[in-house]
Amino acid sequence: MQLSVNGALHEIKSSADTPLLWVLRDELGLTGTKYGCGKGICGACTVHLEGSAIPACTVAAADVQGLAIVTIEGLVPAGQIHPVQQAWLDAGVSQCGYCQPGMIMAVAALLRANPNPTDADLANNIGVQCRCGTYPRVIRALRTMVG
Ligand code: FES
Repeated sequence: MQLSVNGALHEIKSSADTPLLWVLRDELGLTGTKYGCGKGICGACTVHLEGSAIPACTVAAADVQGLAIVTIEGLVPAGQIHPVQQAWLDAGVSQCGYCQPGMIMAVAALLRANPNPTDADLANNIGVQCRCGTYPRVIRALRTMVG
């Protein structure tokens, strides 16, 4: 089985039913994608599949063959910083930081689909449960990006 991850094809040895999350972390060493609930609820494992945000814990590796997968490591070319990441830094969003890759991936997909989201769009589509409660800083960071 081959998977397209961050613009490169990878030969995958994991079994076909292995969740994408574990292929990314354990086989490809892309540990920016985090494990939280394993049930598609918390969003810590959010990656992009064909440009849309999905929880990597809920899809089997075999089901995403031939589709473009992007992780936090591939969101922008090496050495560059995504505008969402810059806004996060400027606003000091992260606290413990664990869920932040998933949150940044969710927000990057949201802004690509809807460059001018309302507050309600933002509140309803962050898609990640943050136990540090960083949401007010997230909204502030996003507001600096979308006006
Ligand atoms: Fe995938 Fe929580 S670990 S949604």
